[in-house]
Amino acid sequence: MIEKDNLFLKLVFPDKAPTKGQIKNLILKTSDLFTFKNAFRPSDYMHNEDFLKGYILYFVPVNVSKHYSVFKELFRHPVFIHKRELKILDIGCGPSPVLLSLFDLMEKNVIHLEHIRYIGIESEERAISIAEKLIRELKPEKLNLKYDFIRADASDLKIYQNLRKIKPDIIFFSNSLGEMFEKGEIKLEDFIDLMKSFSYKNSELTLIIIEPGTKQASMRLHRLRDSLIEEIGFYPFSPCLNDLPCSALKAKNWCYEERTWKSPTYLNFLSSLGLQIKYLKFSYIVLRKDRSNIKDTFENGEEIIKNTSHLLNEKGKSRLWACWKGELIDMEKLKRDFREAEEWLKIKKGDYFSIDKYIALSNRKVRIPKDCKIKILYSP
Ligand SMILES: C[S@@+](CC[C@H](N)C(=O)[O-])C[C@H]1O[C@@H](n2cnc3c(N)ncnc32)[C@H](O)[C@@H]1O
Repeated sequence: MIEKDNLFLKLVFPDKAPTKGQIKNLILKTSDLFTFKNAFRPSDYMHNEDFLKGYILYFVPVNVSKHYSVFKELFRHPVFIHKRELKILDIGCGPSPVLLSLFDLMEKNVIHLEHIRYIGIESEERAISIAEKLIRELKPEKLNLKYDFIRADASDLKIYQNLRKIKPDIIFFSNSLGEMFEKGEIKLEDFIDLMKSFSYKNSELTLIIIEPGTKQASMRLHRLRDSLIEEIGFYPFSPCLNDLPCSALKAKNWCYEERTWKSPTYLNFLSSLGLQIKYLKFSYIVLRKDRSNIKDTFENGEEIIKNTSHLLNEKGKSRLWACWKGELIDMEKLKRDFREAEEWLKIKKGDYFSIDKYIALSNRKVRIPKDCKIKILYSP
């Protein structure tokens, strides 16, 4: 089997190994389209050969790693750990990085799926054709995979009539839902109704939505999270620990993940150009109806907290912003209270940790006392 990163290169440059300049130009052109030219991006950008090539070289490996990380935390949970079959509906699937991440997890024996039924909905034929090539080359031999691509406009609600009968285990929107909202292709009420109909008599449904880690995209996603919880009764599996209104939004702030990434080696030279090759920055929500939550996979902790910021090193103390019981809390530990090998200093952005005592300084400010037992429960 051809190695995945080589395959990305081979698909884009079938005849001859590329120069760094060729790789750089394609990636910068595509990256520009998602950042500076966001407002002018044509809806059929995947049809443009250069954009598609840039997407395969950079955004597909980035998104495979994001999905890998989200699936990994899902498959820690008892409701998923023993699953051998999975039905997935991937909406706005592009070249299908969702499926590639599952292949990776299987190859690394993190998950043990035997059967996958996968349906990708995508408007661009070229993206589908790349997905099919990637699947043919990378599917693990032991996996029984049945896949179909539906070339359609995902905002045409008629296409879901038959798909509901399949009762998917997972509905995935990865970097696609925001696009559909932005272009006004789908309205919030219609989206809520659609998810309501999919979750009806399907109590095992998991909805996963991944969006960029920008302020605008994250805030839009978390507003949607609050609506889905309120109107359908979904419960967050991750990254949130409860179904209270988003604490970041309440504080007019935004919450995003920053996870380490080992990029393909052909991208290494890009860091000098300002492109991110060490971290994955994104926002996401995983929702279910049965109240299962990532905290069920941790050893018991008295107070479980999600760190949403980097550690902020200040004179005399070190602080972080914690999402805790539906509020964004300013938590600090004084340097004079640090112990040897201080656990507080090991907490990274995105980590879940527990404490057994605290001092409330105000409604939104908490101090960690010297004798507090801090435990890092999970580092995504
Ligand atoms: C940013 S890409 C994301 C692709 C893939 N899900 C990923 O995570 O890499 C968005 C994809 O959604 C597709 N898309 C956008 N609007 C769509 C629509 N209304 N119907 C079907 N596909 C759509 C685009 O063609 C594109 O392939």
